[in-house]
Amino acid sequence: MFSWIVALTLLVSASVVLGLPENLYSPLISSKLAATSATYLGKYPQYTDHASPAQWIWFNPDGWTSGFLPATLYELHTRQSLCPEQSDGIDWLSRARNWSAGLVPLETANHVGHDVGFLSFPFVEELKLNPTNAGAIQAVNAFANDLARRFNPVVGCTRSWDSPDPDFEVIIDNMMNLDVLFVSSQLTGNTTLHDIAVSHADKTRINHFRPDNSTYHVVHYNSVTGAVTSRVTAQGYANNSTWTRGQSWAIYGYANIYHRTGFQRYLDTARGAANLYLSRLPASQFLRWDFDAPAPAPADTSSATIASNGLLLLSQLERSLGMKERLQNNSLCLPSRDLHDFADYGTQILQGTANLAWSPTWQSLLSNGTVNKPAGNYLTGIVYGDYYWIKAGNELIRQGYVACPQLKKP
Ligand SMILES: *[C@@H]1O[C@H](CO)[C@@H](O)[C@H](O)[C@H]1NC(C)=O
Ligand SMILES: *[C@@H]1O[C@H](CO)[C@@H](O)[C@H](O)[C@H]1NC(C)=O
Ligand SMILES: *[C@@H]1O[C@H](CO)[C@@H](O)[C@H](O)[C@H]1NC(C)=O
Ligand SMILES: *[C@@H]1O[C@H](CO)[C@@H](O)[C@H](O)[C@H]1NC(C)=O
Ligand SMILES: *[C@@H]1O[C@H](CO)[C@@H](O)[C@H](O)[C@H]1NC(C)=O
Ligand SMILES: *[C@@H]1O[C@H](CO)[C@@H](O)[C@H](O)[C@H]1NC(C)=O
Ligand SMILES: *[C@@H]1O[C@H](CO)[C@@H](O)[C@H](O)[C@H]1NC(C)=O
Repeated sequence: MFSWIVALTLLVSASVVLGLPENLYSPLISSKLAATSATYLGKYPQYTDHASPAQWIWFNPDGWTSGFLPATLYELHTRQSLCPEQSDGIDWLSRARNWSAGLVPLETANHVGHDVGFLSFPFVEELKLNPTNAGAIQAVNAFANDLARRFNPVVGCTRSWDSPDPDFEVIIDNMMNLDVLFVSSQLTGNTTLHDIAVSHADKTRINHFRPDNSTYHVVHYNSVTGAVTSRVTAQGYANNSTWTRGQSWAIYGYANIYHRTGFQRYLDTARGAANLYLSRLPASQFLRWDFDAPAPAPADTSSATIASNGLLLLSQLERSLGMKERLQNNSLCLPSRDLHDFADYGTQILQGTANLAWSPTWQSLLSNGTVNKPAGNYLTGIVYGDYYWIKAGNELIRQGYVACPQLKKP
């Protein structure tokens, strides 16, 4: 009988000035995911119930979140590669491949609309390990072509949700689905896929953002004229409010598309989205589901973990440009002088999330997720909230902010 002690060692040279939540590297991550993925069930977890302790609810594969469990298992494999000394000995890669296999039928028929990008995540991870894996190449190309078929050249965007013409709906979340177009474009040399992603990102910069850099959730276009017909919300508090998860997708989506293209305008958009998010972050560091929802309003920890990853990517890109000094002077409207860059804020948000929502007895890692407040679906664990929690832990190691956690038997 022993308990594990996790000691985190911050590298002295790193700019992260705050502590990290120990639970970012908790052994419960391994034990919970081992239990969740032990047997392939043909169904995928999306969010938890309200039992005490909360249990996953399982869904058929043909849903937008089915890629997140296999993608999480790839992240746990990545953690073993980053920290071989601390390996938990579980064959995460076999499990990741097993759970990915259940998504293959969705390559030819699915009902997830633009969310084929999210379904592609585990296959994109496989290609990082094994760039010639034929099954993964086929999946990525199939999902990319699906998304490309949703492109309307008059509107200049891929269609997010299906509504009857001439209505054409685009949601801010769609920014995260564009990545599959870049990956497939690289695999096949088909530049049309790249150009579709760039067109979508350009239109969204113009039409989804308010002057203060907050975002609308949904923009309706006319599919025949390309004109914007309305700007509304679906999952937020009000048509004019800022749904926090949407803002998180904007930060991460534009940081990623800058990473893919190197186009300065996307870096600017990501910075603007990030600054708005940080300027509205409450002292508690946990995120209400909508920045404008009147208190008391439930949190959304998935927004927090998505934003943290977006901020970590943005910080990495800023540093790789050697622009840190310029960033501090000009670009980052820092609410606090104690924090130096976007990564500091990312880790602070993770700490706030841990304080609120680390839930040892739940099947999920985190509580206080809000799937869809207007639909009455909140106060749950969420599979993508947990995925981005684990991914943030890996990013902090990979970017050199933190050494591998020392797992010691006392
Ligand atoms: C996944 O694992 C299950 C057993 O849990 C097995 O029946 C199934 O064949 C595996 N699928 C693949 C594609 O490996
Ligand atoms: C490139 O992708 C587009 C969008 O899927 C497709 O219409 C086109 O046929 C592809 N071009 C080639 C040369 O495969
Ligand atoms: C947003 O505006 C539409 C009309 O454009 C309206 O039907 C809807 O109820 C509004 N939503 C909210 C949350 O106010
Ligand atoms: C919604 O936002 C638009 C654009 O900022 C503004 O013109 C309009 O007055 C706002 N409506 C409400 C009800 O706040
Ligand atoms: C919005 O973001 C852009 C790009 O970073 C920036 O130039 C602009 O000043 C921001 N607007 C506000 C009101 O902060
Ligand atoms: C967090 O979740 C707990 C229940 O799991 C709930 O009691 C609490 O009110 C929630 N807090 C917020 C801010 O969402
Ligand atoms: C940034 O600000 C510092 C202190 O105000 C100044 O010394 C430095 O020259 C500035 N750097 C740039 C690139 O503007």
